[in-house]
Amino acid sequence: MSRTHALVAGGLGVIGRNLVTHLADEAGWEVTALSRRSPDFETSARYLSVDLEDAEATRAALAGAGPFTHVFYAAYQEGRDMQAQVAVNLAMLENCVTAAEAASPGLQRVLLYEGAKYYGAHLGAFPTPAREDDPRVMPPMFYYDQEDWLAAYSEGKAWDRVVLRPDVVCGFAIGNPMNLAMVIAVYAAICKELGLPLRFPGSATCYGKLAQVTDAAQLARGSAWAATGAPGGTAYNLTNGDVFRWSHLWKRIAASLEMDPGEPMPISLSEMMADKGPLWERIKAKYGLADVPFDKVAAWGFGDFIFNCDWDVISSTTRIRQAGFGTVVDSEAMFLRLVNEFRERKIIP
Ligand SMILES: NC(=O)c1ccc[n+]([C@@H]2O[C@H](COP(=O)([O-])OP(=O)(O)OC[C@H]3O[C@@H](n4cnc5c(N)ncnc54)[C@H](OP(=O)(O)O)[C@@H]3O)[C@@H](O)[C@H]2O)c1
Repeated sequence: MSRTHALVAGGLGVIGRNLVTHLADEAGWEVTALSRRSPDFETSARYLSVDLEDAEATRAALAGAGPFTHVFYAAYQEGRDMQAQVAVNLAMLENCVTAAEAASPGLQRVLLYEGAKYYGAHLGAFPTPAREDDPRVMPPMFYYDQEDWLAAYSEGKAWDRVVLRPDVVCGFAIGNPMNLAMVIAVYAAICKELGLPLRFPGSATCYGKLAQVTDAAQLARGSAWAATGAPGGTAYNLTNGDVFRWSHLWKRIAASLEMDPGEPMPISLSEMMADKGPLWERIKAKYGLADVPFDKVAAWGFGDFIFNCDWDVISSTTRIRQAGFGTVVDSEAMFLRLVNEFRERKIIP
């Protein structure tokens, strides 16, 4: 097989950054990654600084950077509201794929990342385990617009598409709006500094419900498989393959941080963390931590959402396992590994 050349759109996000590392450093791919910011770390991947909202700039940047064999689309922008989110994220995908295609006569596959919001996980209780062909929920939901556009646009082309649906992706990234592992780690560091136990900051109902996550490293491995080994033209749920209850996991996370666990006490992290910037500065100085600004280190609103899901969140992984990707990750071990990784990176004490 000729050398694979990946274009990773959104290469500094929690999905993209970990995917770039896996493809470039472990799987031997040539990798070009794209985002507006430039990386502040060493990487063998080539990073392009491009605004995907700008169709002309995207086309110009990608014209000389290809040809690509695969596009991994993990760019994402939060909108003012759900309608605005559709418009911006659809335009970015269109600009990216059309520009990459123009630069890539040998394009083989485009992979698009969605999530459990496809099944309504953000709206309330939904049928679980959610299967890929389950009926959609009430739009607006930008995944639907992106998926439909990609399906129509790839029709009759030499390349095809695969949709991956992870849920609550956990891994290292800075400044992104959805990163649960970083929320937990920074919240814990603040509780510890204040001499508080590690109370679950959400609802008692959520504490007892079944939940799932996707290790960013697992997603990266699954993405490489989905690019080259998966039957195309379809969607796959991709999680760690296990489920857990916060009531079990929370105590183990607390123990790994040498903290006393606390029972649920619902607080709004967005409100309660709003005045913790100065405290975070003192923690950074005291423990010699990396200089990550407080407003970039954790997205509290995402924590508020996840810790108040009063319903089971479970995706079926039958389809992806039957198709050939059977790797599973122990979510408890993953959280403990990430806590250690964040310590080594000097993100938390
Ligand atoms: N995180 C999760 O827990 C999770 C779970 C399930 C599904 N998903 C889905 O997976 C997709 C990716 O999510 P993510 O969490 O990895 O996103 P993320 O961490 O917010 O990363 C988004 C990436 O897109 C880039 N980007 C944003 N606007 C851009 C623009 N105008 N031009 C070029 N690059 C741009 C960002 O870099 P710059 O800001 O430097 O441009 C960043 O590299 C989304 O559709 C999300 O809904 C995420």
